[in-house]
Amino acid sequence: MEKTEFYSHIFKRKSIRNYDLTPLDDARLKEISGYLNSLKPIYDDIKTELKIISPDYVKRRMMKEAPHYIAVFSEVKEGYLTNIGYMLQQADLFFSANGLGSCWQGIPSPTKELLGSSNLDFVIFIAFGKPKDPRSLHRSSVSEFKRKSIGEITDIAGADELLEAARIAPSATNSQPWFFTGNKNLIHVYSVEPGFIKRFTKKYIPIDVGIAICHLQIAAEHFGKKAEIIFDKTVKMKMLKGHEYVASLKME
Ligand SMILES: Cc1cc2nc3c(=O)[nH]c(=O)nc-3n(C[C@H](O)[C@H](O)[C@H](O)COP(=O)(O)O)c2cc1C
Repeated sequence: MEKTEFYSHIFKRKSIRNYDLTPLDDARLKEISGYLNSLKPIYDDIKTELKIISPDYVKRRMMKEAPHYIAVFSEVKEGYLTNIGYMLQQADLFFSANGLGSCWQGIPSPTKELLGSSNLDFVIFIAFGKPKDPRSLHRSSVSEFKRKSIGEITDIAGADELLEAARIAPSATNSQPWFFTGNKNLIHVYSVEPGFIKRFTKKYIPIDVGIAICHLQIAAEHFGKKAEIIFDKTVKMKMLKGHEYVASLKME
């Protein structure tokens, strides 16, 4: 399991909810654990802990069982949820690229035992394992993504090849709470203000935006650009009605 060419998987991946419940073998779990240790953060001063756990520690609340979960813990600091979205989307793409299914899981909650096992705060689960039907693992065409159009998520002209990757990113209840402005060399990423979206998904908006930033950066790198994630205080000052500034990507 070493495939880390993620760009093409942005266009193929999908959330997998039906699993073969046979646990993966120890060697494979070890490789996954090794990969999780190498995930890039946006903010390297925010402590995180990722544990691979069995379903015994997950209160599933109507969600179908998976053979394994990543339990995600983080220090609570400004930007921590966006940081988690950005980091764990790399894992989502890693699973897709290596023939495994995965799904972000905001609905389940941790057992007391799991909660007590880390000094950091529990954030979210990611379910993963072999898909029950291997043919269901990937989408075969971009038309299978139910998403907003590019015109609904940006006013930037000339950067569609980058923004397309963010457009089709996954989000909680598929709410796609992101907007991109600026220009093709400096893309400012905004979240859609919580009031516009159902209350249930509010908590996940910063995670969703971190996921979109991950896709955007992978696309930029695919097209030979170095995309640095920066926080531009002057942009934050300029309010964009109904939106909140999250970060910018500087292309070089
Ligand atoms: C932060 C977050 C939380 C999510 N929570 C759940 C969940 O609890 N249960 C579920 O079935 N799917 C969950 N999803 C998956 C989304 O429903 C899914 O990504 C979205 O509908 C788009 O579909 P796709 O991932 O197949 O492209 C979650 C996704 C994100 C990003």
